[in-house]
Amino acid sequence: MAAINSVVDLSKDGEIAVVTVNSPPVNALSADVRDGLAGAFAAIAADSAVKAAVLVCAGRTFIAGADISEFGKPPRGAPLPAVQDAMEGAPVPVVAAVHGTALGGGLEVALCAHYRVSDAKARFGLPEVKLGLLPGAGGTQRLPRIVGAKKATEMVTSGAQMGAKDALATGLVDEVVDGDLTAGAIAFARRVVAEKRPLKKVRDDASKLGGDAASLAPFFAEFRAKNAKAFKGFDAPEANIKCIEAAVALPFEEGLKVERAEFMKLMTGLQSAAQRHVFFAERAAAKIDGLPADVQPLPVKKVGVIGAGTMGGGISMNFLSVGIPVTIVEQKQEALDRGVAIIRKNYQNSADKGRFPQSEVEARMGRLTPSLSLEDLADCDLIIEAVFENMAIKKDIFGKLDKIAKPGAILASNTSYLDVDEIASATTRPEYVLGMHYFSPANVMRLLEVVRGARTDPQVLATAMAVGKQTGKIAVVAGVCHGFIGNRMLARRQQQANALLLEGAAPADIDRVLTDFGFPMGPFQMSDLAGLDIGWNAETSNGETVRDRLCEAGLRGQKNGKGFYLYDENRNRTPNPEALAIIDAYAAEKGINRRTIDDQEILERCLFPMVNEGARILSEGKAQRASDIDIVWINGYGWPVYRGGPMFWAEHDVGRARITQVLEKMGEEVSPVLKDGWKA
Ligand code: 3HC
Repeated sequence: MAAINSVVDLSKDGEIAVVTVNSPPVNALSADVRDGLAGAFAAIAADSAVKAAVLVCAGRTFIAGADISEFGKPPRGAPLPAVQDAMEGAPVPVVAAVHGTALGGGLEVALCAHYRVSDAKARFGLPEVKLGLLPGAGGTQRLPRIVGAKKATEMVTSGAQMGAKDALATGLVDEVVDGDLTAGAIAFARRVVAEKRPLKKVRDDASKLGGDAASLAPFFAEFRAKNAKAFKGFDAPEANIKCIEAAVALPFEEGLKVERAEFMKLMTGLQSAAQRHVFFAERAAAKIDGLPADVQPLPVKKVGVIGAGTMGGGISMNFLSVGIPVTIVEQKQEALDRGVAIIRKNYQNSADKGRFPQSEVEARMGRLTPSLSLEDLADCDLIIEAVFENMAIKKDIFGKLDKIAKPGAILASNTSYLDVDEIASATTRPEYVLGMHYFSPANVMRLLEVVRGARTDPQVLATAMAVGKQTGKIAVVAGVCHGFIGNRMLARRQQQANALLLEGAAPADIDRVLTDFGFPMGPFQMSDLAGLDIGWNAETSNGETVRDRLCEAGLRGQKNGKGFYLYDENRNRTPNPEALAIIDAYAAEKGINRRTIDDQEILERCLFPMVNEGARILSEGKAQRASDIDIVWINGYGWPVYRGGPMFWAEHDVGRARITQVLEKMGEEVSPVLKDGWKA
């Protein structure tokens, strides 16, 4: 085998040339890979003994896309279109052999081969939209010429992948190979040569587009309308649709020009920079600073959950769904039955929607053991407490668990605010105690804050992070402080939202400013949804706060149809005049001078103090890195992904100087980390 360079080899099997890309971990199209491919196809073109070529990848996957880490840097190496032209224009048939995932630029390269084969597990997709981009190497023009404009529109706007079976049915691959992929691809190439099959170029065949501009216009209009809500705020989906429209309306080369122009717009924009940041931030979050390399997670084969309420039930589902048995403990039979019934109902709903077969509902429920006794948790490897947010109760439970749990079992609390070190002090094994803070609904929300106590053992921390990953969560390490990363910052937003309310902003205005920014709901919609009376006590309520007065007047939020808003039977909301009057009266009584507050002030006062708190969290070492804070806010609180998270937004959109200036005007103490900046 001759090395073209460090990542691409060229060898021959008789008259068939075999080009192998070997660039771990995912064979991304780095400058070296592009240079290697350009060199290999130049050599193939110059070798008259070669009758066909196979392109295959070593390692876990076919090319998984362009090398995202090169984006935004000065160009280097052979341009991707030149590599594609060399393949598509090769004098002999080129066969791409796909295993793993052919994604983005990887699929776009495969689409320049004359034929494609794959193994049975291969998957194909153009996920650029998830990075705020579109396929910029001909994907929007070639894919619809194989799978049709409709399917291509769905794929490029969602990033959804297609399996080998569907790929074969649509003609995206010509053959699914059993056994060794390279050998199968070489055999396929030999047949192509023997049968003198043509050098099929995807670009030349418009017969499968599925219509022309006029006949497909209603489809595109309907597609846009149907997805308006999902696409709201994002630039990339619309740009992707425009390119598929161009594929339908224009000759190939013209369509390619549209694609290039739209791609460059997105690539140089802030949204894609933000979404690329999030891609790497998600992966960085999994890394624990300072963890010795030889630390391996402990095995977690059985889990205990204490509390069968909304949180406990949701937490249990995470484990049941991936095959890990759970013992769930409640104090009263009735509460236990109710909790178990809700878990079953949730699974049943998913089965009814066709997400998995009925047998799967039974299999998952079969892994659940309901119990009324903590003693039944004696053989669990991990026990997660999810009871009422009260230190005394939690300490009592941890004291009991200390006596019951087997040596080496991890004891976790799902507390959202409380001091994990104090909880740990109720045990004789604080090194096995940590926080695992889930977000509601815990079976759906991806965020998991893993709270590292002062004495938590690194292996225990690594285990909680690994368990998070295994159950499909994005786990982020947080230090012990009130509210950890997410809720600690949220408190600052809520504080300002409440102040703005008294100074003259209407709840609906504050909510609108934040939803226009991209949050799924504003703070007062959130309060109404959670229930205004959460944590409120009718006996001790004395009208001291606006919340007291709203609750005293019988306003409870969505649950009784009236809160900051009034709700009709379809949950449509309109501002509640009664709530507004209560706020007015309260402000008057306190002598607050009410005024008109503009949208910019609302936005800045709600979000800038949060960024300041994020900077403090960093300076105190309660978050490992700024990007972890972004991940918490995107996955736990609905911060719009196209704005990259609060710390990215502060650094790259608004600018730290502006934030500092406004905070100083507000009389806030500005964190030195916010003034001086943080490590990216
Ligand atoms: N560029 C650079 N690095 C990449 C990469 C890429 N396209 N894809 C993955 N990586 C890196 C990851 O950052 C990670 O690095 P780390 O180990 O240092 O954290 C490592 O490869 C492994 O990635 P994962 O942890 O994600 O591994 P998985 O096995 O879970 O997933 C995958 C593999 C499905 C390929 C997943 O990594 C993925 O979805 N990658 C992105 C694919 C993509 O978006 N491709 C399109 C790129 S844009 C493009 O092609 C533009 C073109 O149209 C011009």
